Amino acid sequence: VLEILLSDELFDKYVKMIYKETGIFYEINKKYYVQKRIEKRAQSFDIDLNEYYSMLKFTKSSSEFYQLINDLTVNETYFFRDFPQLRNFAEDILPVFENEYRDRKKIKIWCAACSTGEEAYTLAIILLEMLDEPEEWQIQILASDINSEVLRIAKAGLYDKRSIKEVPREYLEKYFTLHNDKYFICDDIKRYINFKRINLMDEEAMKEINGCDFIFCRNCLIYFDEVSRRSVVARFYESLNPGGYLFLGHSESVGRISSAYKAARMGDTIIYSKPRDS
Ligand SMILES: C[S@@+](CC[C@H](N)C(=O)[O-])C[C@H]1O[C@@H](n2cnc3c(N)ncnc32)[C@H](O)[C@@H]1O
Repeated sequence: VLEILLSDELFDKYVKMIYKETGIFYEINKKYYVQKRIEKRAQSFDIDLNEYYSMLKFTKSSSEFYQLINDLTVNETYFFRDFPQLRNFAEDILPVFENEYRDRKKIKIWCAACSTGEEAYTLAIILLEMLDEPEEWQIQILASDINSEVLRIAKAGLYDKRSIKEVPREYLEKYFTLHNDKYFICDDIKRYINFKRINLMDEEAMKEINGCDFIFCRNCLIYFDEVSRRSVVARFYESLNPGGYLFLGHSESVGRISSAYKAARMGDTIIYSKPRDS
């Protein structure tokens, strides 16, 4: 029998604190999920949930708060997730971009909720496969997440079978090495990616990122509420070059939250771009 130690009132206080700092919003039906994780952290200090709340409140943005966030975030991801959307990127959008910037030969991608890194590495593989002369290009991929633990895994670049199930066999052989049932991403891919901890609700940190040709932020904004979603999408707009693209997850849409972007339907997904004359 679950011992209910967390009143609705205290749950509400936690929700507000987490929301304010991260944009992640928990409805009451997530109480059990949140409670389990808070309990685990509180127990490690041998204090109750009221005391733990006070501790966080007076040391906000502290490493303990971010430890809790590490436990709370949902980090599900895998290589080549949402293949159809990636195909749109690789086969429809990238060739046009390549042609247009054949003299500049520079591409910057921001993978803004990269979790354990699979998405960022997937994008690097796509560039190496699809660009005519990838070695001639200056390829820059910034991969960020709020969760320091997933970034540690991302940097190590070591994956199990579940993560690589959608990787085409040919790429698996070309870009991975198998060692004790684990798949290592090769250094040739790794060198294009810079992993960094960035909280999408941190305005100052977001302002520092600019000149992006493509931003991928897939399956993250579903955890936000409308207000925080709106502000993140508006900041992405500032980080994009005119003509640049924003890719969101399947069920996420900026349609209602920002009319600044130009929306185009491609296959099953909608892809957003920043107008050139902006
Ligand atoms: C489900 S994963 C998505 C991974 C990958 N983009 C994909 O589509 O497979 C969502 C990620 O968003 C991150 N996240 C949640 N809130 C965030 C925030 N405020 N700032 C940055 N990242 C955040 C989580 O830590 C988590 O790794």
